[in-house]
Amino acid sequence: MKPKVYVTRNIPEKGLSLVREACDAEVWEEELPVPREILLEKVQNVEGLLCLLTERIDDKVLVASPRLRVVSNYAVGFNNIDVDICTTRGIFVGNTPDVLTDTTADFAFTLLMAAARRVVEGVDYIRAGKWKTWGPRTLLGQDIHGATLGIIGYGRIGKAMARRACGFDMRVMFYDEYVSGNDAETGATKVDFDTLLAESDFISLHVPLTEETYHFISTAELAKCKPTAVLINAARGPVVDPQALYVALHDGKLAAAGLDVTEPEPVTMDDPLLTLPNCIIVPHIASASVATRDRMAEIAARNLIAGLKGEPLLHCVNKIPFFPKSRDFIIE
Ligand code: DGY
Repeated sequence: MKPKVYVTRNIPEKGLSLVREACDAEVWEEELPVPREILLEKVQNVEGLLCLLTERIDDKVLVASPRLRVVSNYAVGFNNIDVDICTTRGIFVGNTPDVLTDTTADFAFTLLMAAARRVVEGVDYIRAGKWKTWGPRTLLGQDIHGATLGIIGYGRIGKAMARRACGFDMRVMFYDEYVSGNDAETGATKVDFDTLLAESDFISLHVPLTEETYHFISTAELAKCKPTAVLINAARGPVVDPQALYVALHDGKLAAAGLDVTEPEPVTMDDPLLTLPNCIIVPHIASASVATRDRMAEIAARNLIAGLKGEPLLHCVNKIPFFPKSRDFIIE
């Protein structure tokens, strides 16, 4: 008999077909996330769960799913999952790194360029019928070439961002306590946090959301930035304190921001950041290319299937060096 699994959204067919072939799968087909009470009901009999960053997989979900053996997240970030509780319960947790690195960095760089050169303001300007002539002072922005990019979090995506910056003749520095020295490949220099804030013309965030990185960029940090600096966030919304960012952008303490992610998500329509012309906000689409979403779906499916077989996941985020084969390993 095929193992029962629940898939919380209609992921690309590349992954869904693999799941359907190997499992007895039920899929939440709606556009909006599965409501919490339905999720709690659906997980009761499943052995596998393929979920998205829109689902909070916490104690309550895990207690409601006594047969669960694997949680496969369709994302590289997994702050939506309580991995420690999963580990204690012998449940594998998988994610989808690598395949989205370049697509996400492409998009973070897109935001950087769009914010620096005021692309969205330019489009709005025309649509509002304001383009009357070529203007020597119209929509002046920041140069990208020759500028200094400060990358916070020098993992896969941070480093991919540095590679892009090399092509634009930028000086690149990074802050990351887990990286030991300068990066010979990109020429990026490791610096302390305050140096990065003070010297960067562009700051791009590439850290996971954890207790340590919650509101990592707030009033005090923004006060150390150049007033001409541009902040890019394609990591997780809560890494930046939105109120502090609003004040800095509004008061001219920061030139612009490009946000792929917000706190909360989706951004509320009365969020004051939406009123600022120097703040570009897009709906968490940095990994949203056809090819990348296909690859993410395939990896998420393969993680799920491997976990159900008791085999090592392609990408496993549990901090344990063993792979429990069955629920017999559960520490209750
Ligand atoms: C992730 O994978 O964590 C992104 O935020 C969505 O692709």
